[in-house]
Amino acid sequence: MDAIVAYYQNWGIGKDGTQPIVIPEDRKRFQEMTEGATVIVGRRTLEDFPDGKPLKNRKNIVMTRQDIEIEGATVAHSVQEVLEMVKDQPRVYVIGGESVYEALVPYCEKIYITKIYAKPECDAFFQNLDEQFAWSFESESEIMTSSTGHRYQYYVYEKYYITDNIKKL
Ligand SMILES: NC(=O)c1ccc[n+]([C@@H]2O[C@H](COP(=O)([O-])OP(=O)(O)OC[C@H]3O[C@@H](n4cnc5c(N)ncnc54)[C@H](OP(=O)(O)O)[C@@H]3O)[C@@H](O)[C@H]2O)c1
Repeated sequence: MDAIVAYYQNWGIGKDGTQPIVIPEDRKRFQEMTEGATVIVGRRTLEDFPDGKPLKNRKNIVMTRQDIEIEGATVAHSVQEVLEMVKDQPRVYVIGGESVYEALVPYCEKIYITKIYAKPECDAFFQNLDEQFAWSFESESEIMTSSTGHRYQYYVYEKYYITDNIKKL
């Protein structure tokens, strides 16, 4: 299971239930990466999708503590329930928002990041990976400029397994 997130320079990811700056090139990449895969999304982020509906051509799992049904999606009420649902799925992406990242990133192997060089006001944030021993920086793209004029860059972080690194010593 991997996570995909777009964050700004202040680790912000959202404001008032939506993303304050969206880069079309990043949206396209997100669609291509997640096409045909299972995506795990929080109930609040689902509300921000077009018409508040699950994403097409993907298996959507929506996290909520409420006893509700969501057309076109499977509902999961806890981390344990999600992990059970995805254990045999080949491609699974955690796609936010803040609370779902907090709950599930510890179970992810990789985090695919789009860093957008802007500092819009945010009320939802991603964890600062550089302060966490559990994650190591794996790769970065060059800095690009989007059609909207924003500079952005792709990063990959990988879970840090201390045993693998001891073997290398
Ligand atoms: N930049 C990005 O890449 C990106 C990606 C996605 C979202 N976002 C942003 O993130 C913000 C939303 O984040 P958020 O934290 O407010 O909302 P969220 O994580 O999308 O959804 C929160 C809801 O998910 C359910 N939930 C969360 N943890 C759960 C658990 N352990 N077990 C069961 N249900 C659980 C609860 O639903 P109930 O209330 O129904 O119980 C909770 O209210 C928005 O601003 C959005 O635009 C940014």
